Amino acid sequence: MQTQPSRFEFESTNLSAKEKEAVYANALKSLDAILQGETHDILKMSTINCILREALPYYFWTGFYLVHNGELIVGPYQGTMGCLHIAFGKGVCGTAAATKKTQIVPDVHKFPGHIVCDSKSRSEIVVPVFNTKKQLIAVFDVDSTKLASFDEIDKKYLEKIMQKFFAS
Ligand code: SME
Repeated sequence: MQTQPSRFEFESTNLSAKEKEAVYANALKSLDAILQGETHDILKMSTINCILREALPYYFWTGFYLVHNGELIVGPYQGTMGCLHIAFGKGVCGTAAATKKTQIVPDVHKFPGHIVCDSKSRSEIVVPVFNTKKQLIAVFDVDSTKLASFDEIDKKYLEKIMQKFFAS
């Protein structure tokens, strides 16, 4: 049987360092303006997904996994169907949660234990998200269909965004 192509299927496009800096700086300005005074985490997470995925052409899948009952459960996201539950220590998301450190994975096929939600994903970044009490509340996960889409620039801006909107 022929199935309809997913509305979310597209090929990611990598950006140069200079382009990334400019696009992230601009997206951060938009987020500052839109989220000023907002306090609800789900509202903030949904808006961050939308603004970043619209701005960055290599964001194939973007979303948050929330810390809940000792595991990660899928939260607000944009893209194809995400895995529902991820254990701490499993895959890229579980590793970021267990170590509380950002994970940059240039080739997901080379990451031991990588969890495949969509086989189109080829590279990934996962950033831990803390609240004002420095407790881990979620991880932010971005996947690209291109290899090596994420680097220190993504890490710098994403950590800044998570710090600004959830930890201060
Ligand atoms: N690839 C992730 C799982 C989440 S999805 O990519 C949406 C991982 O290994 O943690």
